[in-house]
Amino acid sequence: MIMAQVGYSKTVMEHFMNPRNVGVIEDPDGYGQVGNPVCGDLMEIFIKVKDNKIDDIKFRTFGCGSAIAVSSMVTEMAKGKTLDEAMKITRGDVAKELEGLPPQKMHCSNLGADALHSAIKDYWMKIGKIPKEEPKEEERSEGETCPSG
Ligand code: FES
Repeated sequence: MIMAQVGYSKTVMEHFMNPRNVGVIEDPDGYGQVGNPVCGDLMEIFIKVKDNKIDDIKFRTFGCGSAIAVSSMVTEMAKGKTLDEAMKITRGDVAKELEGLPPQKMHCSNLGADALHSAIKDYWMKIGKIPKEEPKEEERSEGETCPSG
């Protein structure tokens, strides 16, 4: 069966067929999880940090082929970088390295950089570099009343 490749660059197809850094790191230094509000898919990134650099990185996604290619690329881009450098990788940078994504798939490219940034922030919170994030208003359950009475 020939897969429809219309609109996908060679680089996207290559990363989709041979994704790098797939998997889970047990006991990661930082962990990021992001949901895609457009399609509801999930992305997780795990990092190990050494000398302020990303020493190891893995991803797991329940997203589509584009999300797999994006995650593979973002992990390649981040590996070996300092945390500050990795924090500057944008969604646009990832899409550019992949030689573009079809417009209807751009929302999938958001997952990679966002999950990476979330994993770095998780690490920074653990070491006390940044304050722990307050739970969002809608996540608070205190004082909530049951609508059925
Ligand atoms: Fe959900 Fe691409 S359609 S991540």
